[in-house]
Amino acid sequence: MSLQLWTHCKLATMQPDAALPYGLIEDGALVVEGAVLHWVGPRRELPPQLVQRCGQQHDAGGALITPGLIDCHTHLVYAGDRSDEFELRLNGASYEAIARQGGGIASTVQASRSASPEDLKRQSRVRLQQLLAEGVTTLEIKSGYGLALAHERKCLQVARDLGRENALAIRSTFLGAHALPSEFAGRPDDYIDEVLRMMVLLHAEGLVDAVDAFCERIAFSPAQTARVFETARQLGLPVKLHAEQLSDSGGAQLAASFGALSCDHLEWLSQEGAQAMAAAGSVAVLLPGAFYFLRETRLPPVDLLRRQRVPIAISTDCNPGSSPCSSLLLMLNMACTLFRLTPHEALAGVTRHAAQALGLRDRGVLAAGMRADFVLWDVQRPAQLSYALGAKPCIQTIFNGEPR
Ligand code: NIG
Ligand code: FE
Repeated sequence: MSLQLWTHCKLATMQPDAALPYGLIEDGALVVEGAVLHWVGPRRELPPQLVQRCGQQHDAGGALITPGLIDCHTHLVYAGDRSDEFELRLNGASYEAIARQGGGIASTVQASRSASPEDLKRQSRVRLQQLLAEGVTTLEIKSGYGLALAHERKCLQVARDLGRENALAIRSTFLGAHALPSEFAGRPDDYIDEVLRMMVLLHAEGLVDAVDAFCERIAFSPAQTARVFETARQLGLPVKLHAEQLSDSGGAQLAASFGALSCDHLEWLSQEGAQAMAAAGSVAVLLPGAFYFLRETRLPPVDLLRRQRVPIAISTDCNPGSSPCSSLLLMLNMACTLFRLTPHEALAGVTRHAAQALGLRDRGVLAAGMRADFVLWDVQRPAQLSYALGAKPCIQTIFNGEPR
């Protein structure tokens, strides 16, 4: 197979044990073999015989190259918007109060159920393209706006279709336990029975890579969440959890006891929760867009996570209610300004740690043997990626070894 060589670039390899922050290599070189990175390092160490084998040689023009970005927590497939609730909130209503009055997630469920698959795909594709333009090469998409078998299936199929029709990798997560649909009003345990049934069927159809739930006083209890996770475990599916977003319900400990890939949001995470996550190896996925958009004031305990050595990922949470956002670069900035992450931590949060939050070991760093997913940026220093607001620094994205 012919090799491709990339030179005249700075590399932010994001390798964890590198000597310099970002695993930075000032004058770097990459050799790609098919869809895999074959060699990564300083240009002066490139073996000459390897260069001779490179059929194609690319001049990166001095660009910074990072791993392809990974958005590890989104609800990207939905119909309609909730700008009406945005107005209500600005007139004093709270997110929780709107949800309790039958708005919130339920109103997006109604819009998404009514949409045809084509329409749902068309609306979702707009958001997807914004993420692609910022160098996203792996994207997680949750269901959870169908809440009935046919509609959950429709949303997951749209997610899979978007992956087939675009040059990026999609991971789909079943979030049947997102909210109680109105037809089950007053019968949450019966709905959990239905969630378990849907999970088994949708998994058998090959539509599910992981399972998530919303454990919160306006959603499902820890006991109900545990039932969802037990079935996931029987099916061999990894779990994740919307945990401690609006209150501390001990969701993180529960998720950790099931070896969760990640616990997400975490503004109300306790010391015990962080310890449990550390012991289980769960990633903390922080969602600054939701914190900002809901005008939350309680910060996720970043120092506690650092002390416990819990890896931190950052994501858009792209959804119509709490984070109508399809810019991962903006999230890098907000992770730094709002949550006080360093630009290095923020970039690790959308590369190496985001890969870990999805259970993917073949991406998120530039190293030999990893997937050849990488991005060329028109910046001098990696910190510029989280520094600028609204900049469009992505020059080119390589996915699976091919320019996209
Ligand atoms: O991640 N917390 C639950 N789910 C979404 C919001 C969903 C919605 O409001 O539509 C979140 O914030
Ligand atoms: Fe979410």
